Amino acid sequence: MSRKRVAVLISGRGSNLQALLDAEQDAYEIVLVVSNAPDAEGLTRAAQAGVEALTLDHRPYGKNREAFERDLDSLLIHRNIELVVLAGFMRVLTPFFVHGWKDRLINIHPSLLPKYPGTKTHERVLENGDAEHGCTVHLVVEDVDSGPILGQAKLRVQPGDTSQTLADRVLELEHALYPRCVAAYARSLGGRP
Ligand code: GRF
Repeated sequence: MSRKRVAVLISGRGSNLQALLDAEQDAYEIVLVVSNAPDAEGLTRAAQAGVEALTLDHRPYGKNREAFERDLDSLLIHRNIELVVLAGFMRVLTPFFVHGWKDRLINIHPSLLPKYPGTKTHERVLENGDAEHGCTVHLVVEDVDSGPILGQAKLRVQPGDTSQTLADRVLELEHALYPRCVAAYARSLGGRP
């Protein structure tokens, strides 16, 4: 079966992008990286890996999120992208994009969903005295951080953990989990949409 053509959307550091690039890409092939932020470190990572790296700055679009997404959509369609992977992409997507890429849009979130959608997940784990924490890979639906779960990785919260130590350890889990889930999901997909 042919490898699925993947675009990764980023806004910053791009350490998950790096993990996806470094993994054996036998089920997927990253052919495009798009950042909404021109100075995203992930753009350099993509270029170093020989992958097309583009900036689509959201700022000129002002409040018109859908106009931004229409241009993003065109970039993806033009390159025959089959699967869109969000990796630290800091824009909430509108129904236009989410419906257009239904079942072809994946995200990773630093909590054990359905616990702690949104931000400050590590802080909330500590505040609630949770015994475990982790990360979740899921399909994107209209409601933020709530689509069908494709995989999770867990850790035990240790005495002395801070939000920083949790963030570091969860990120390590993310780097192992995301490539595995993207590969498994890519394998499960049929032909072109
Ligand atoms: C990760 O913690 C991910 O869970 C969240 O954004 C962060 C992205 O980090 N969605 P990076 O840009 O991949 O290093």
